[in-house]
Amino acid sequence: MKALVLAGGRGTRLRPLTHTAAKQLVPVANRPILFYVLDNLAQAGIKEVGIIVSPETRKAIEEAVGQGSRWGLKTEFLFQEEPLGLAHAVKVARPFLGQSPFLMYLGDNLIGSGIGEFGKAFTAGKFDALILLKEVEDPSSFGVVELDGQGRVLRLVEKPKHPKSNLALVGIYFFSAEIHRAIDQIQPSWRGEFEITDAIQRLLEMKARVTGHVLKEWWIDTGKKDDLLAANSLVLDQWVGRQLEGYVDKESQVVGRVTVGRETQILRSTVRGPVVIGERVLIQDSFIGPFTTIGNGSQIVHSVIEHAVILEGVSIENVDRLEDSLIGNGARVFKDRTTRQGYRLHLGDDSVVEL
Ligand code: G1P
Repeated sequence: MKALVLAGGRGTRLRPLTHTAAKQLVPVANRPILFYVLDNLAQAGIKEVGIIVSPETRKAIEEAVGQGSRWGLKTEFLFQEEPLGLAHAVKVARPFLGQSPFLMYLGDNLIGSGIGEFGKAFTAGKFDALILLKEVEDPSSFGVVELDGQGRVLRLVEKPKHPKSNLALVGIYFFSAEIHRAIDQIQPSWRGEFEITDAIQRLLEMKARVTGHVLKEWWIDTGKKDDLLAANSLVLDQWVGRQLEGYVDKESQVVGRVTVGRETQILRSTVRGPVVIGERVLIQDSFIGPFTTIGNGSQIVHSVIEHAVILEGVSIENVDRLEDSLIGNGARVFKDRTTRQGYRLHLGDDSVVEL
């Protein structure tokens, strides 16, 4: 089976972080989300992957993933010039997909399980679509699926104002070539996009074989800050072990599941896992609490940080307590201890400061 990974789009919901990067490359536990997607494809035995890229993401995604040899995959980049929707991306990929059944995986979706079993069920059941569903509190920002008493898929609606169920459509779908016929029959939605949700609804109307599977493990669509923090916490909690490569001085304590990268120094500080700290980081006279990730080349001095994602080359100094935060590449947060004036901020476009 081939896979189609979607890594286009403008990532507007993660601004300002995605002004410079693709949202699929925003790191969780210091690894781009997209890398977990590719892990999952490789583990499921998939070899050929088409990756949809957009003008905004193309360069960064191609550089990060390359030919896919790190995963034993063969990648091909497919260019979607305009963000006309997920079903449109499938159209763009048609020459790559041919008549092959395929797995479509949104590059910003992270799930707490593999996908191999779903692939087997899809093939064994000779389905035209196998979709994954997850119970969520507020389904209105997703595709929403109604099932009947026997668990059969009745209806799908994209981002309904009044959802008829709490089952959201996870961004991982298995399709037969029938989906192309369905896509040819749909119209753009109110947001001007060709929705894959509408194409699956069309499959149902065409009496094609569509089945849904409710995911038991966690699922996160990492489109927004709090989702990203939640994803970071889950990955740190479940997949991170203890591995110390840097230097920890005698006055420091590193407790629990903590990974520390090369050339990192921890001086007179306490780090309480689960925590991931990248390479060439300086942690000095600080406390780094659980569920924190610190990117390469950052410096944390005289500060307390907990439950935060700090990207690369960040400097944080004299900050009493920073929590539930997402700090972009190269940002500086510091307190000048000599003055007692109000806040002085120098923020980029679309920044958010909660004081
Ligand atoms: C897309 C799909 C939606 C699905 C979601 C999962 O939404 O349109 O049906 O539930 O991905 O991540 P979008 O990210 O385009 O808002």
